Amino acid sequence: MVKDVTVFLNLNRKRPKMILVTCAAGKTGKAIVGALVGAGYPVRAMVRTEKSLESLKKLGVKEALVGNLALFEDVLRATENICSVYYIAPNMDPNERLNGKNIITACQAQKVSRFVFHSVLHTQVEALPHHWERHFVEQSILNAKIPFTILQVGSYMQNMLPAWGQMLETGIHRMAYDVDAPMSLVDLDDVSEAAVKVLADASYANGIFEIAGPIISLKQKAQILSEVLKIEVSAEKEALEDFLRHGKSLGFNDFTLSMMSKMFPYYDENGLVGCDKTLGWILGRSPTSFEAFVRRTAASFS
Ligand SMILES: NC(=O)c1ccc[n+]([C@@H]2O[C@H](COP(=O)([O-])OP(=O)(O)OC[C@H]3O[C@@H](n4cnc5c(N)ncnc54)[C@H](OP(=O)(O)O)[C@@H]3O)[C@@H](O)[C@H]2O)c1
Repeated sequence: MVKDVTVFLNLNRKRPKMILVTCAAGKTGKAIVGALVGAGYPVRAMVRTEKSLESLKKLGVKEALVGNLALFEDVLRATENICSVYYIAPNMDPNERLNGKNIITACQAQKVSRFVFHSVLHTQVEALPHHWERHFVEQSILNAKIPFTILQVGSYMQNMLPAWGQMLETGIHRMAYDVDAPMSLVDLDDVSEAAVKVLADASYANGIFEIAGPIISLKQKAQILSEVLKIEVSAEKEALEDFLRHGKSLGFNDFTLSMMSKMFPYYDENGLVGCDKTLGWILGRSPTSFEAFVRRTAASFS
């Protein structure tokens, strides 16, 4: 029995319209903050470290604060006088459920009128433990009596950018999964545009939406890279042990490495495939193709 229908109708109009974005200094956070600020929304950014504050201020946020999602008092402070929350969870974090519980409880306490969760594609899959843990956060959101939207987001096209220069030098597009594995890669710019639309329109409340791009394999990406960049690019699977050794040298913690050691064999077998129709419907246009992403990226580097 629903006791308070106002929570489902987003009728609380007296509150300031400030939007809290968590994990704002990460890859996803910066993209979402940039899109919200660009669309004219006042944003409060929650970051984990002092050193991230300056970069967020440069992005034009109204307020920024340092806090840890695993500490309830930090989350309660972050949600004070907030109208809507765009909840980005830390990537591959052993505290997934605790972080989720903290933000949901704080939003209830502060009577936040809108909650959007930046989730991942296929939280139903137990073989991907970091997706599966998120499934429990999604369950808690369903029962929180806050108007929610869950965006189940596929892997980003942008994940290849840290190795872009190396790919140009070597002519090899390398990832740690099978070159034929199908992936619904999505452009993070499309995700951010969809996030703004969803936050701006209360009629998306109570919806769970897959945010996925068109299906593509590593081999098909290499072919497009060759055609657009006019160089020979081939697809190569990096051996898991090499990837994990490299990850360790870059400072990935043991939890992240253990998640990755399960994720890549799963991708080998199944890829990660969603449907791009919902994203097209939200955007009012087709999601960005990998070819368009490559053209845009190449232009931005030239
Ligand atoms: N990458 C993808 O392809 C993809 C696709 C779909 C969904 N997602 C989801 O998007 C989310 C963000 O991923 P990302 O790739 O943007 O990760 P990212 O670049 O590593 O950013 C994560 C951010 O979380 C912050 N953080 C970590 N632990 C925290 C804590 N306890 N309290 C507060 N902040 C904390 C980090 O702060 P520091 O910088 O200070 O460490 C970092 O800025 C994840 O939930 C991921 O599952 C990612």
